[in-house]
Amino acid sequence: MNEPPRVLLIGAGTRARKVYGPWLSQAKTVRPLAVVDTDTEAALSVARALPGAAVLRPQDVDHTLTDDRPDLVVIATPDASHRDYVMQALAAGCTTLVEKPLATTAEDAFALVRAAKNAGTRLLVGHNLRFTNLHSQVRMLLAGGRIGEVVEVDFRYTLNTSHSHSYFTRWHRRRAASGGLEVTKASHHLDLLSWWLGAQPIGVTALLGRHHYFPGKGDVPADADIHDSVHALIQYASGVTVHYALTPNAPIEGYTCTFRGTEGVCTVQYDARSGPHFVDLRPASIAEGRRLTVRREKGTHAGADRRMLEALSKALLSGAPSQFATVTEAALAVATGTAMYHSSRLGRRLPVPQPAILGESR
Ligand SMILES: NC(=O)c1ccc[n+]([C@@H]2O[C@H](COP(=O)([O-])OP(=O)(O)OC[C@H]3O[C@@H](n4cnc5c(N)ncnc54)[C@H](O)[C@@H]3O)[C@@H](O)[C@H]2O)c1
Repeated sequence: MNEPPRVLLIGAGTRARKVYGPWLSQAKTVRPLAVVDTDTEAALSVARALPGAAVLRPQDVDHTLTDDRPDLVVIATPDASHRDYVMQALAAGCTTLVEKPLATTAEDAFALVRAAKNAGTRLLVGHNLRFTNLHSQVRMLLAGGRIGEVVEVDFRYTLNTSHSHSYFTRWHRRRAASGGLEVTKASHHLDLLSWWLGAQPIGVTALLGRHHYFPGKGDVPADADIHDSVHALIQYASGVTVHYALTPNAPIEGYTCTFRGTEGVCTVQYDARSGPHFVDLRPASIAEGRRLTVRREKGTHAGADRRMLEALSKALLSGAPSQFATVTEAALAVATGTAMYHSSRLGRRLPVPQPAILGESR
């Protein structure tokens, strides 16, 4: 019988504690090799639950990649460090899963598209919201033409107060570390939109604001330089226009998304924390709309993480294509977010930069 794939986990913070650590300790399909973190205590606390896993420092990564040749490298460190770790893992020829966002700048994201293409190995990006049962159903519904051809979308995401606050007090508060909310948070939504619509973003007009969190006020450190609200108009190559908003300090964390098609309207409601999900479908052909209630699955991110990890295990075993975001798709989500920042700064519409190589690494 083949040995289960051996996994090197880089980053032992919240994401590792909640998702990757439990997966590595429970799944029979994978075996932990080592945990890496700049904070040795953090690495130890994750590794303690993983029998046989070593604790390593960042400077040990190169030699463990070449000497131990992990079958999978999982990167769950702060966003700005993704680029260098992905480059190291690809150079060693390792299959890699990197957390979203792929990178914090379009240049870094496109450099990773090129590197993945040249490395000829698989680079998967953890846009886990693709795996929510609701989100797969929305994709099928739109692809099935239930509201005809989508021409316009209104996507409005609100962060609740504690989540908003955490972005302004943790590493995310610095644009250099996270790319701002328009990258670190919006990349989830930008990836979903492109995936649902099967379309490529090509232009952005955006307005970023600071209305709630100010550098040096209250417990927000003086070096916080990100914005707390994002409003944008995004154009897609298919002709679809998306009105996008991301705003903080709401009572509810989640989104409402309305798709207007040539043959009807569909509104999706997703509460990130509790309750079922709703899809209100009003095809033009019927007088009254109908509400579909989609069961909320158990687990982090309404079951998305569990499904993503199951897909990861399958992808490792079979090598078959999967629902994961490709490096190009993930790079375009980053490029759209950074274009929002520059559009707001310059006060005009900007094209979304495109990677020179539209290569896919699956
Ligand atoms: N997919 C999702 O739903 C989701 C949810 C939360 C976070 N994330 C992403 O996961 C990643 C990790 O986020 P988190 O919330 O776990 O952050 P965190 O701050 O809780 O943990 C980050 C860990 O990385 C360590 N670290 C920092 N720099 C490092 C470096 N250069 N090398 C090695 N270790 C380093 C820190 O010591 C810390 O233990 C981020 O990219 C974030 O955007 C994704």
